[in-house]
Amino acid sequence: MFRKEDSIEKRNKLIGQSCRLFYSDDPLKIVRARGQYLYDENGKRYLDCISNVQHVGHCHPSITQAATVQMELLNANTRFLHDNILHYADRLSATLPEKLSVFYFVNSGSEANDLALRLAHEYTQNEDVIVLDHAYHGHLTSLIDISPYKFRKLTGQKAWVHVAPLPDTYRGLYREDHPNPAQAYADTVKEVIDQVHLKGRKVCAFFAESLPSVGGQILLPKGYSTKVAEYVHSAGGLFVADEVQTGFGRVGSHFWAFQLQGDDFCPDIVTMGKPMGNGHPLACVATTVEIAAAFTANGVEYFNTFGGNPVSCAIGLAVLDVIEKEDLRGNASRVGAYLQEQLKQLQTKHPIIGDVRGVGLFVGLELVTDKDQRTPATDAAAQVVRRLKEEYICVSTDGPWENVVKFKPPMCFSMEDAQLVSDKIDHILTDIESGH
Ligand SMILES: Cc1ncc(COP(=O)(O)O)c(C=O)c1O
Repeated sequence: MFRKEDSIEKRNKLIGQSCRLFYSDDPLKIVRARGQYLYDENGKRYLDCISNVQHVGHCHPSITQAATVQMELLNANTRFLHDNILHYADRLSATLPEKLSVFYFVNSGSEANDLALRLAHEYTQNEDVIVLDHAYHGHLTSLIDISPYKFRKLTGQKAWVHVAPLPDTYRGLYREDHPNPAQAYADTVKEVIDQVHLKGRKVCAFFAESLPSVGGQILLPKGYSTKVAEYVHSAGGLFVADEVQTGFGRVGSHFWAFQLQGDDFCPDIVTMGKPMGNGHPLACVATTVEIAAAFTANGVEYFNTFGGNPVSCAIGLAVLDVIEKEDLRGNASRVGAYLQEQLKQLQTKHPIIGDVRGVGLFVGLELVTDKDQRTPATDAAAQVVRRLKEEYICVSTDGPWENVVKFKPPMCFSMEDAQLVSDKIDHILTDIESGH
C-alpha cells in the first residue's frame, strides 16, 4: 500500500484536479468500512455521517453475497431475457404509486436525469425546463444546464432553462410565519410559467429534488408539489421528482420523499440512484405507460450497456431485502427523530444554531452568526466539520452559503451514534462561541 503522502502526490499527478477530496488539507485514506464506520490506513475508526450511497451500511454481507452469487452465474446485457430485472422492477413497482409502472435501468443519477429529460421532451414535444434555485441534478452537459448550483459558476443560464425560488421556509421568500408557504411558493412557479409563455416558449418539465439537498437540506412545504404539478400540467409539462438522494426509505415514514407531500401527489417521472445499489452503480427512471409509449414511438432503440444487468438487479433486490429485514425505515424514523431532538436541545443553548430541520436520516443543522438576520455562519460550519474530523466523525456542509451541516448517514446509524455526534457538536460550539 502507498504511504498516505505518496497517495496524495500520485493522485495530484494522475487524477484530474477538479475531482476533489474531502478535507483537502489533510485527506483521509480509508481502506475498509463496515456498517456506519470507516477505517483509515492505521485502523482508526471514523463515524460516517455522510455516505447516503452505502445505504444499508458499508460492505453489508448480504449485498456482497448477492453480487458474488450472480457474478459467478452470469452477467450480460438486457438484450437477453433474464428474470432478475423483472423481479426487481416488480419490487420497485410495489413501492410506487400504480401509475409509475414502467422502468428504465441505468448506471448513475446523472444518466437517470438525462433520460428523464429525453422522456419529457418526447412526450410533451416542448423544450423548456423549470428548476429550483441552487439545485443540482447531475454532471452531464444536459444536467449542468438545469443545475443552477453549477451553471452559475460556468457558462450561465440557457434560454430554455428557468429558475424558480427555493421553497426554503427558514431563509427564503416566504418563511415559517407565512400563513400558506406551500401556496405562495407554488405561485412563484406559476409566475415562471407565465414568463415562459410570454416569451412564446412552452414548458416541458418541472424538475425538483423531493427534499432539496445541495440547497441546504430543505423540506418542501406540504402541498407545494401538488399545486406545482397542477400548474405544470395545465401548461402541458411534466413533473419530474429527483429522488437520487432521498429515495429508498431515507425519510423513514415513507419509501419515497415525494410521498411526504400526501396521497394526492404523484410525479410523472421519478429518478433514483445513489442508495439503490449500496455503492454499486445502479440507477433508474420510473414513469407512466403513456410517457414510455411516447418515447418508444420515435422508433429509436434505448440501449444502455450496463443498465439493468443481472448482477446490478441482484444487488438492487438484496438492498430492498435488507431495508425490510432490518427495518431500516423504522430505524431512520427513530434515530433521525432522536438526532433532531438532541440538536434542537443544543439550539436552546447555542445561539449559533439558527435552524434544525429534516426528516428521518436526512437532517440539517443551519449555523448563523446572527439569529435575527440569519446571517450564514460559513466559517463556523467549516470549523465544525474540521473539529468533528479530529473527533473521528465525518460530516459535510451544504446550502448556498455552505453553512448547513448535513447528516445523511448509512441507515444503520444508531442512537449511540446520534448521541455521540450531538455531544461533540455541543463541545465544539461552546469552544467556537467562546472564541477558541
Ligand atoms: C439530487 C441529485 N441528482 C442527481 C445526482 C447525480 O448522480 P450521479 O452522481 O450518480 O450521476 C446527484 C449527485 O450528487 C444528486 O445529488
